[in-house]
Amino acid sequence: MSQFQPVIKWSGSKRSQATTIASHTPLFNRYYEPFVGGGSIAYAISPDKGVCGDICKPLINLWRSIQSDYESLYEQYKIRWERLQNEGYLVYYEIRDNFNKNHDSNDLFFLSRTCVNGLIRFNKNGDFNNSLHHTRKGIEPERLKSVLSDWSERLQGIEFFSGDYWETTQDVKSGDFVYLDPPYFNTKGRYFGTIDFERFIDYLDSLNSKGVKYALSFDGMRGDTDYSVELPTKLYKQHLMVPSGNSSFKKVMDKKCEAVYESLYLNY
Ligand SMILES: C[S@@+](CC[C@H](N)C(=O)[O-])C[C@H]1O[C@@H](n2cnc3c(N)ncnc32)[C@H](O)[C@@H]1O
Repeated sequence: MSQFQPVIKWSGSKRSQATTIASHTPLFNRYYEPFVGGGSIAYAISPDKGVCGDICKPLINLWRSIQSDYESLYEQYKIRWERLQNEGYLVYYEIRDNFNKNHDSNDLFFLSRTCVNGLIRFNKNGDFNNSLHHTRKGIEPERLKSVLSDWSERLQGIEFFSGDYWETTQDVKSGDFVYLDPPYFNTKGRYFGTIDFERFIDYLDSLNSKGVKYALSFDGMRGDTDYSVELPTKLYKQHLMVPSGNSSFKKVMDKKCEAVYESLYLNY
């Protein structure tokens, strides 16, 4: 399971921790994930019924296309990818301009598979601004088709919602389960959107009052340094440290590996 391919590469993806996090999932009625990003936990859990949301609207539109019509996404990727191979790099920038005008999911998907490190990145105006990855061709359409079909199948039970986390989970009830992976509070601008810490604490409080189970991924530890953000102890029952791979930055800078752990808080 830890080897699964991402369909959308996303900054802050929990892919390397997905199996561990999914193994802590309680029994639930409906699954909610209001900071869905690249969807690795939704994929690992593959719920029968649930709602996933994100503040990033183009991302949610892309999830809807993957879920409802992955074959057309594949066909459209193939057309763009073949043009890139035959006509050269200007095709990428033409498609990027089109996306920034029309917000077509087919364009965003192509860009995400051919841009530098495959990372979807927007500027302050919401324009996609990553460049073409010149030394890579982008994934072959046929290989991508099977990744798309696999993800589409695993996400069939999910309804995608574009908006703030409070809205995505507004109808949660006791018996439902919410997985939370908010942007880091102490690294403004690292992800799309930032969130207010006090408001988020009120939110966790409201889930507790409704008797809703949640798991929360949070800042953690690198080497001996603790980057945890203090979470009021009344809000949770367990605090686990989940290994999330080694820090590649440290590896390059100091030629040594430091273990990186991220916090997982459970209120059950
Ligand atoms: C750490 S990423 C989630 C990564 C995801 N777990 C994965 O495996 O790819 C945090 C996400 O929160 C979203 N976000 C930021 N502010 C938000 C808000 N107020 N409401 C909902 N989503 C928000 C960002 O767009 C981003 O996708």
